[in-house]
Amino acid sequence: FPVAVVLPAGGCGERTGLGTPKQFCSLLRRPLISYTIDTFHRVSWIETIVVVVAKESLDLMLHIAQKFHHTKVIVVEGGSTRHRSIFKGLQAFCARAGAPPLPRPEVVIIHDAVRPFVEEELLLQLTLAAREQGASGATRPLVSTVIAATSEGYLDHSLERAKYRASEMPQGFLYDIIYQAYQRCSEFDFEFGTECLHLALRYSGTNARLLNGPPTLWKVTYKRDLAAAESIIKDTLS
Ligand code: C5P
Repeated sequence: FPVAVVLPAGGCGERTGLGTPKQFCSLLRRPLISYTIDTFHRVSWIETIVVVVAKESLDLMLHIAQKFHHTKVIVVEGGSTRHRSIFKGLQAFCARAGAPPLPRPEVVIIHDAVRPFVEEELLLQLTLAAREQGASGATRPLVSTVIAATSEGYLDHSLERAKYRASEMPQGFLYDIIYQAYQRCSEFDFEFGTECLHLALRYSGTNARLLNGPPTLWKVTYKRDLAAAESIIKDTLS
């Protein structure tokens, strides 16, 4: 059954404090995003990878994409928020500016460009769970306890850590379910949080299967994460 990937990479990476968006930062002389694309590109059962970037990064991304198979890696322009970028990626399977729509997948995996280490086995488990359940996501145990703070900076309440998990990426969805959820929530200006799994639940009643992911799924967010990612790549190469 056809499986595609949507890779939102349209952010500006403010938190790294570098001028370049983090997905384009160089790790061992290759942009971070090319490692992420590689992990999906070498999976034979993934048909299409839609990379969503900001307008000003289109040329750079098209240049990077030349290193991959031109029918497997497709570049489209993103939106002003992550949700808008993901929606643009999903829309590439319905209509594309100046090109025919891509073949519609049965399952779509959504993943952040800034999480370069994903194993095929996890992708397979997520895909199968999404096909059965409608939605699936990788999670991790919480490292810190989460507390709610009042606007004045005092403790409001704390959550029982063992009950909660950190929601990571990748996440898998039946394409029709997530497309419909995004279409509906675009009417409300994507105002309901940052979580794709939540959109699927709220807008199509699909309750996601949660799987455990490895610690290497973490998101490159700060400058020090780039150094950590580089050392993981070095270890894998040696
Ligand atoms: O900002 P954050 O780290 O949550 O971004 C997660 C992913 O979403 C990154 O890969 C980033 O490039 C992407 N993003 C996007 N379009 C935006 C903002 C973020 O594709 N407008």
